[in-house]
Amino acid sequence: MLLTIDKLLNAAQLDKIHEMLAQAEYEDGKVTAGMAAARVKNNQEMKLPPKALELLLRIIMSTLGHNATFRGAALPLKMADPIFARYQPGMTYGDHVDDPIMGGSGPKFRTDVSMTIFLNDADAYDGGELVIRTTWGEKHVKLGAGDAVIYPSASVHRVDPVTRGERLVCVTWIQSLVRDAARRELLFELGQAREVLLKSDPDSDATKQIDRSYVNLLRMWSNC
Ligand code: NI
Repeated sequence: MLLTIDKLLNAAQLDKIHEMLAQAEYEDGKVTAGMAAARVKNNQEMKLPPKALELLLRIIMSTLGHNATFRGAALPLKMADPIFARYQPGMTYGDHVDDPIMGGSGPKFRTDVSMTIFLNDADAYDGGELVIRTTWGEKHVKLGAGDAVIYPSASVHRVDPVTRGERLVCVTWIQSLVRDAARRELLFELGQAREVLLKSDPDSDATKQIDRSYVNLLRMWSNC
């Protein structure tokens, strides 16, 4: 499932992030890419002093923790520290799949869900679309500042070359409680119906059945 989340970050959070990114140094993005991905990766990633980085990570992590759409769709168990990347004119990231296992020298985790949060507006740059291959063809994603997209990490995807301006994004990866993307999608839809019914008709038998089905499917399919 490819899902966009509008206004994940608000204006105040974006201002703070931009203020900190303006002071950052950048290094070649190949440093964090796997062997195959490094051959097609041409972007830059932010390097910040530990304290500043910690504050940025806290903004992103607490926002994600409070976002019901993200939690319902990704069913997060573990998450990578987000990376802040920039693409200037000529920069691109060719077709690749993300590394299956992350964690560096720390605890390892599997990547099930990939996430991109767009940090500047779509009209701030030309090109730079995130293009994700799906069963129904390629989806081109270019969202507004603060908006996010999540998609299965196994999907082949690329970032088209930027031809003007600057593309700034925050990317991260999630190990989900539910490994299988089709099961996650089913749980997301059922979970949304459950939320509506629990508010509109909490005492009906149908609501109780939907509620129990969601809870028990999550129990059946989750690994933690
Ligand atoms: Ni990628």
